[in-house]
Amino acid sequence: MSTREVILTGDTPTGQLHIGHYVGSVRRRLELQETHDCYFLLANLHAYTTRADYPDEIHADTLEIVRDYMAMGIDPNKAAITLQSETPAIAELTFLFSMLLPFNRVMRNPTLKEEIKVKGLGENYSFGFPLYVVGQTADILAFRAHSVPVGEDQVPHIELTREVARRFNKLYCDIDENVEDDDPVMEEKGVFPIPRADVGKVGKLVGTDGVNKMSKSLDNVILITDTPKRVKKKIGQLYTGRQSMTDPGDPNSSLMQYVDIFVTDLDRAAELKDKYVRGDNIGDGHIKVEIAEAISAMLEPMQERRAAYEGDDDTIIDIIRDGTRRANVQTEETLAMAKEASGLGFFKRKISF
Ligand code: TRP
Repeated sequence: MSTREVILTGDTPTGQLHIGHYVGSVRRRLELQETHDCYFLLANLHAYTTRADYPDEIHADTLEIVRDYMAMGIDPNKAAITLQSETPAIAELTFLFSMLLPFNRVMRNPTLKEEIKVKGLGENYSFGFPLYVVGQTADILAFRAHSVPVGEDQVPHIELTREVARRFNKLYCDIDENVEDDDPVMEEKGVFPIPRADVGKVGKLVGTDGVNKMSKSLDNVILITDTPKRVKKKIGQLYTGRQSMTDPGDPNSSLMQYVDIFVTDLDRAAELKDKYVRGDNIGDGHIKVEIAEAISAMLEPMQERRAAYEGDDDTIIDIIRDGTRRANVQTEETLAMAKEASGLGFFKRKISF
């Protein structure tokens, strides 16, 4: 058995991925796939929580994510790309874990509350919508993940996952309340390691509106497939509020965040920043052109790789099938352990795939 740490993270299919996904999460996954047992989950059932009336779109979006993964350099031989809806242990653990969490605790989750607000759901959301939060704890724990690379907004979900893992281990594995999260006993005696949130350097990339987080629903994204022309146009729209070339610029502006992240020539990035902050005859327009060029240079090899998968659903589905098979080996083992511990171990079953 592998002694490497297990990594689990996922994406809800809402359309193509964008550069915020890349710098916030996928870039980190490229390193992790070399050194860890990685599972990247296509959280397609979560997409149904708000879009159950668009099944065909969700299906297509799910395949698009995999195309973007391939474009960005995820290697399906190293990391298992796995489909939530064909990983049944997740659904079963969701049911079990929903009994370990007070309803109010789920509803107080700030990320859930924010989504209800941003999406304008009011009180008109499905029962499954808040249930996805419990589902996400099962996504993670089904793999007995040690670490979950995510953006800042997902941290409350990981916090909740840690609570579920602790509660389960205490209730059903006889682990004392005072055992520390990283005490080896937790994993030796308990079913679940207590997973850590691994928030990358760029916890949140601001969108091309210069104000909000980059997010498809806010229409402020640069897609992996955007042409240099589109990139230039979108970066051109970045709002800065600066009036002239001699205005001292704010070092924390969205423009400077983009310089920091995308201008890979570090000397040039430092120079741009220095001139901008001092208002030394440098216009926002000029900086934007350099940023746009840097982004397009980053996207070019990705777009080349992506082209190989365009219009070819069969290859994409083969990749998902293989990853899901590997995921089921891991998650069925977890489920059997969890059932045994919680009084549900009547007999064993075997999923054929
Ligand atoms: N909720 C995450 C998002 O919208 C996607 C996700 C689903 C996820 N299951 C996960 C992320 C498990 C990390 C771990 O981005």
